[in-house]
This record gives sequence, structure tokens and C-alpha cells, in this order.
Amino acid sequence: MRVLSGIQPSGALHLGNYFAMMKRMIEFQKNHELFCFIVNYHALTTVKDADYLRKNTFEACIDFLALGIDPEKSYFYVQSDVPEVTELTWILSNITEMGLLKRAHSYKDKVSKGIEANHGLFAYPVLMAADILLYGANLVPVGRDQKQHVEMTRDIAIKFNHNFGEVFIVPEADIQDDLATIPGIDGQKMSKSYDNTIEIFAPKNVLKKKIMSIVTDAKSIDEPKDPKICNLFALYSLFLDQAGKQELTERYLTPGLRYGDIKKELLETIWNYFEPYREKRNNLLHDPDLVHDIMLEGARKTRLVAKGYLEKAREAVGLNY
Ligand code: TRP
Repeated sequence: MRVLSGIQPSGALHLGNYFAMMKRMIEFQKNHELFCFIVNYHALTTVKDADYLRKNTFEACIDFLALGIDPEKSYFYVQSDVPEVTELTWILSNITEMGLLKRAHSYKDKVSKGIEANHGLFAYPVLMAADILLYGANLVPVGRDQKQHVEMTRDIAIKFNHNFGEVFIVPEADIQDDLATIPGIDGQKMSKSYDNTIEIFAPKNVLKKKIMSIVTDAKSIDEPKDPKICNLFALYSLFLDQAGKQELTERYLTPGLRYGDIKKELLETIWNYFEPYREKRNNLLHDPDLVHDIMLEGARKTRLVAKGYLEKAREAVGLNY
């Protein structure tokens, strides 16, 4: 089975990215054919600062490599290093109805927040469909917010196959319900756009500041606390097994718990959890040539797969004459 997903380098990668996507992708590579990529064409829809995009793209590559993506075992690449995807986007654009794109939640949300829509933002789901269909992916692990985009990809694939013959594999989304929403420090979904993220590899003093500012309720020490509605609990739980969660629940329900103590524990937990990866990350940060070589080799391998599907699509619609 082919598993594929991508992540936008629109900021430094954070715990929401890690638990909703990166960790799962790194696990998938053991038993599946994995396509994992840094989605920089998509990031262009919102990022307008070239240096910022370059830096975050490069560091996203490093974060994945440090955390255990194995470029030999998987297809690991930067989206724009496989430009075939833009040609497929154009082909797919011509069977994608305006109505479908107008119904996209993420587009509607952005517009309703006052972001002025450009064509790239509107066409975003078509590029995402091309990302998926270009490699014949079967399964697409994404957060709940991306479910509709995968459904649009299915619609586009079905329509293409219906009009032009069986070219594309119709993919399935893979959404893990228990991880559906990872809260940020303010309790909303953790996201760069809400400025509420906890970065995976933040320096300890920055990490500390973020953790200490996690919003909790105003219950006094002597009152029992409610784990079900607590962001701090939800974030800590990401690092705990069943028994650990049970124990923390009991501490919440027993008077005497101080949120400040839990925050200090969480800080140490996060720091220790990522400790084994920090050295590798630092080494890669200091060896950009090596990182570029790895990414270019990833793109070379990936383009061979992309060219196969693109050729079939060109043939199917009559571009080859
Ligand atoms: N839109 C996705 C996000 O913001 C990123 C993405 C782009 C993606 N292309 C993809 C995810 C293809 C899965 C498959 O999270």
C-alpha cells in the first residue's frame, strides 16, 4: 500500500504537526511504501517572504530527517523539486468545477477571516489532488481539517477516470479520531495561523515560556480539577500511555494539584522526549550540502514515479499527439 502525506513549511514545525502527521508517517515507513513531502508550493499561497519560506522548508527537511524519516526506505522530497505536479494540476483543473472549489471549508474560512483570496488559494485543493494522484497513493493520513480536501481529490479522480479511462487510484483519507484536534497554548487547534504553537525543537527557555503560558481555568489549589476540559491535560496526554493518563486523571481529581507543577513536568517531558533527536538535527543544520543532496536524490527517485502517472494522464486527455 502507498501512504502519502505532506506538511506545509509555513512556520517551524510544532507538536500539532508532530502528533497529527510526522510521528505517524515515520511509523508508516516501516511497513508501507511511504511518500512524505514538504509542501512549499502550497505554502506560497500564504507566505510572501522568500527567506522565511527557504528557511522553514530547509528546517522542515531537517526535522523529518532528525526524527527518523529514512530517505532510503521512503520517498522523501520537497514538493517543488517534482515540478510534474504543476502540470498535472493544470490537467485536473479542467475537470474541477468551480462549485466544488467554492465549497472548500479552508478557503471559505480564510476568506471569512479577511484574507484576500488569490487564485492559488482558491486552486489549492486541485494542487493537493495532483499531489496525491501523481503517485497512485492509496492512503492519505491527515488531520480532520484536511478531510474535505481528500474527498475533493476522490471526486476529481473519479471524474477523470469516468471521462478519460482508468488512470488514477481513488485514495482514502486516514484520520485518527483520538488525535483529531491537538490544542495550542490558548486551547484552539494548534496552528501557525493562531500563533499558539509549541515548536518541537524550540530552545529550552522558549519552550518554557510557551508551556508556562498554556491557558488553564482559575480553580484554586484545593479544588478538584476537570481533566476533560483542560488543554494542559490534553497536551500532556500526548506523551503518556494509558496508565500514565489514568494516573494524571487521578491527580487532577484530587485536591492539591497546582497547574504550575504540571507545567514544569510537561516541560521536562517534552524536552526529554525529543532529546534523542537534537544532536542529529544540529549536525544536519551544520551540513546543508548533505541535506540538499539527500533531498535532490529523494526528488530524483520520486520523479520517476510521477512521470509514469503524468504520462498516462497526458495520453488520456490527448496532449500526446
Ligand atoms: N493541505 C495540507 C495541509 O495543509 C498539506 C498537503 C498538501 C497535503 N498536499 C497534500 C496533505 C497531499 C496530504 C496529501 O495540511
